[in-house]
Amino acid sequence: NNKGAGGQMGRDQFRSRLGFIFAAAGSAIGLGNIWRFPYMTGASGGGAFVLMYLAIVLVVGVSLLLVEFSIGRHGKANAVDSYAKINKSFAWIGYLGVFTSFLLISYYSVVGGWTIFYTFKSATGSLASVPADQMGNFFGGFISKPLMPLFYHFLFIALTVWIVANGISGGIEKYTKALMPLLFVMLLILLVRAITLPGAMKGVAWYLKPDFSKLTGSTVVAACGQVFFSLSLGLSGMVTYASYLSKDENLISNSFIVAMADTLIAIIAGFVIFPTIFAFGGEPSGGPGLVFISLPQIFTKMPLGSVFAFIFFLLLVIAALTSSISIMEVCITFFTEKVKWSRLKASLFYGAVCFLLGVPVSLSFGMWGDVKILGKGIFDLFDYFCSNISLPLSGLACAILVGWFWGKDKALAEVTNNGTIQSSVAGLWFFTVKYIIPIVLGIIFLQAIGILNV
Ligand code: PHE
Repeated sequence: NNKGAGGQMGRDQFRSRLGFIFAAAGSAIGLGNIWRFPYMTGASGGGAFVLMYLAIVLVVGVSLLLVEFSIGRHGKANAVDSYAKINKSFAWIGYLGVFTSFLLISYYSVVGGWTIFYTFKSATGSLASVPADQMGNFFGGFISKPLMPLFYHFLFIALTVWIVANGISGGIEKYTKALMPLLFVMLLILLVRAITLPGAMKGVAWYLKPDFSKLTGSTVVAACGQVFFSLSLGLSGMVTYASYLSKDENLISNSFIVAMADTLIAIIAGFVIFPTIFAFGGEPSGGPGLVFISLPQIFTKMPLGSVFAFIFFLLLVIAALTSSISIMEVCITFFTEKVKWSRLKASLFYGAVCFLLGVPVSLSFGMWGDVKILGKGIFDLFDYFCSNISLPLSGLACAILVGWFWGKDKALAEVTNNGTIQSSVAGLWFFTVKYIIPIVLGIIFLQAIGILNV
């Protein structure tokens, strides 16, 4: 069992057909679905945002997932080399991915730390003793402390480093296979509880009824950023995972399955959160704290609520970890293959830098709350740069690379395994990648950086 260090020879591979799907779905399904999607929807006006989100998943998301899968499996190497193998002047997408990985993990793991804290608090029963209407203060009190959240941030990074240091096939496949379905079952139970709360239907109505007056240029930018974030696109994470994939795997169906699973979980999360918020008379625009306040509120109203709380937050930790390892793996594959570091050294280095970068992010919820850079707080700035600028820019570049430089014959040969897979959608995919995505993403990108202002 070669742990994936070093060049092409003896490179690690996903062992089972399902292993890759679970790893890729594990990467996609994470805090983005259960934490970020609901609060972005809440801040952007509900149903209209959800519709925009679905449209972008269908037109841009699924196609770009297949783009990343095909580039990675074709390259069979770290992101920089995989792009360069198609065209040397696109290697920068890989470097941008490495850079963005550091920024993304630094705030992702701060929130990951919150999920660990909540797991502990529900295990000891102290979460259950907080009255429902005090849940907001409980959360706010915790994240604004200087040291405690950093301790949990450290724990989350340590777990991520520990898993990644052990290599690709060293247990992740089995682990995600067992735990992702459990997450799904837990969500379904919460769904039933949430929509049967008195007053829940106001939340359902708010979630489903599109108010198109809320659709502005910045909502579209936010929806696009959410698609990239949630589907793990534009970081080269999916390129990196697919580089460990065997040549007979069906990339087309894999990209559909991963995108569908990810979208389904996000939509269900909304059906859990919004009915609950409305049932408790809360505000849907609560920002990053939404899930940490409203879910514990349901738990206090459920029989065996603290048991459910514990299982739920533990699974949220796991969902976050199966994503954070993919964010990190972009860099680890890069450092081991390009810089020739050992996997352990690369992992420790990455962990240390990410911990330090997370310090200002964490403090921005408390004593550094007033620090503003370009008009944004530190957390918001990191998140805006990653989700709305770096990820879509890289997605745009990938589409141009495949559509205009790789070309139809070679790209289709990769996604159909040299013609052995008959697919009626492959041609449509290529057309979308070559023409539609560059136009759509180009416009959204100009809006994101402020050149266009709709
Ligand atoms: N998709 C992950 C989530 O939803 C986050 C992520 C983004 C992972 C980009 C990898 C790359 O939580």
